[in-house]
Amino acid sequence: MGDDLKTKGFLDIPVDLSLDLFSEINKLKKEKNAIILAHYYQDADIQDVADYIGDSLGLSQEAARTKADIIVFAGVHFMAETAKILSPNKKVLLPDLKAGCSLADSCPADAFFEFKKMYPDHLVISYINCTAELKTLTDIVCTSTNAVQIVESLPKKQKIIFAPDKNLGAYIKKKTGRDIVLWDGACMVHEIFSLEKISNLKHKHPNAKLLAHPECEANILEIADYIGSTTGILNYSIKSDCNEFIVATEAGIIHQMQKSSPNKSFIPAPPNNSCACNDCPHMKLNTLEKLYNCLKYEQPEVLLSADLIEKAKRPIIKMLDLSKQLGL
Ligand code: 13P
Ligand code: SF4
Repeated sequence: MGDDLKTKGFLDIPVDLSLDLFSEINKLKKEKNAIILAHYYQDADIQDVADYIGDSLGLSQEAARTKADIIVFAGVHFMAETAKILSPNKKVLLPDLKAGCSLADSCPADAFFEFKKMYPDHLVISYINCTAELKTLTDIVCTSTNAVQIVESLPKKQKIIFAPDKNLGAYIKKKTGRDIVLWDGACMVHEIFSLEKISNLKHKHPNAKLLAHPECEANILEIADYIGSTTGILNYSIKSDCNEFIVATEAGIIHQMQKSSPNKSFIPAPPNNSCACNDCPHMKLNTLEKLYNCLKYEQPEVLLSADLIEKAKRPIIKMLDLSKQLGL
């Protein structure tokens, strides 16, 4: 079992095909006082068995407040790490330890440490999509929901380094007009949307609203009707009078959009390659079978040193406190 975790990142134990995994998972949750937190980019069946589905801010708030003994994080590694940092006495499980994030990988802590030295009078704001090590080099963490408000809450003269997402950083810089130095990182999913194909789609569907995540490149954001986090995009589609939407973020969010508005239609924005989908390969490493094994055998577990937890916690708590003050 241990070897599987090291080499594969998950428990490769065959699951009895005759089992109804939904009811088995629900039974295990009750027995173990466990909660399943899922990000909107997870497969539909994982979202459907989760206790809480949300964006990065909502998931971290839920991880901090839950009374469960076990948190199963259906998301990627930095999210489960954040849950462990906020609830260090709970067991935090991740169905596949190899569910990483290209954005978090684009900012290694040692390289960032050197970069930071060049800007000694700057405050570091890091997007939550980064490693726990990077969080220890950060003053305030943010998510796509609160990034603009957190920057605006700082004194006007405060110089800022924003890491790791250059697209979200450039968007915040434009919205706030603040002095911000950007780390050159990006998300592999949001970077490949094709302006040409999206423009053609808009032409074919003139009434459709283009909804984009701020991790998208500036040329896509420029033509978007709405820019926001996954929760923002979902809420916009629910409230809007419009019946058709082009969705420029990971396609998993469409499951909740369609569930909330069954009579509206949602078109995934096409990427710049021959593939018709825009799935995050990291998010999609989690499966219902891996989730079931993970809950049953309580592995793989996310473990962090007490020192790392203590240092990475400060900027996350600052974000949660500021979000509360801002009513988010
Ligand atoms: P939000 O759900 O917080 O908008 O983040 C999107 C994302 O890229 C998560 O990996
Ligand atoms: Fe990371 Fe992008 Fe996947 Fe989100 S969608 S987990 S930012 S690679």
